Amino acid sequence: MAISETTIERMHALAAQYPKSRSALLPMLHLVQSEQGEVTPEGIAMCAEVLGLSPAEVTGVSTFYTMYKRKPVGKHHIGVCTNTLCALLGGDAVYDALSERLGVGHNEPTPDGGFSLERIECQAACTHAPVMTVDWEFMDDVTPSSAVDVVDRLERGERVESTRGPAIRDFQATEFSLAFPDDGLASEGNSVDDKMLAGLRYAKEHNMAAPTFGQES
Ligand code: FES
Repeated sequence: MAISETTIERMHALAAQYPKSRSALLPMLHLVQSEQGEVTPEGIAMCAEVLGLSPAEVTGVSTFYTMYKRKPVGKHHIGVCTNTLCALLGGDAVYDALSERLGVGHNEPTPDGGFSLERIECQAACTHAPVMTVDWEFMDDVTPSSAVDVVDRLERGERVESTRGPAIRDFQATEFSLAFPDDGLASEGNSVDDKMLAGLRYAKEHNMAAPTFGQES
């Protein structure tokens, strides 16, 4: 699929934001995904052309990071963290329930393209384990039934709020935000909650402070 002129213009705009234009490659790959739903060969070729890199260099980056997809994902891409803490608190059960509900396995889209599923690594959100992401937005403290309920509601076209962030849009819309973060959604939804502040509260109550470094006599 050819890259649109609008996307090529946006690629040049991203490249112009950095002293070294190749620094724009990561957002440019998200931009490719926002238009094409995956990192296509055409997207790789255009990124290389705009940045003066070889297609092999762009391919090397796009295959290193798991957020870049080399196969089509669903309209909604669901990640389930199955790293240690989430697994201990039920992440595998959440993954299994979604896999059964959707009829797909790891990194597979449903036949109608509505969803895809992925086992993901720690999201630095262990406070709310087990967590899943929908189009990279957090759904915290999920259970097998609450995770399946999210899929049911999205399938019915209902509005679904993430637990920390804006309402769920779709994979390609979020990918555009990752290329151009100024989407006006930064203040939507909760960003910090009581659980996240528990450690800070405990430290204050017990007059604890982080050790200072580099001041030894
Ligand atoms: S182990 Fe799942 S968010 Fe950290």
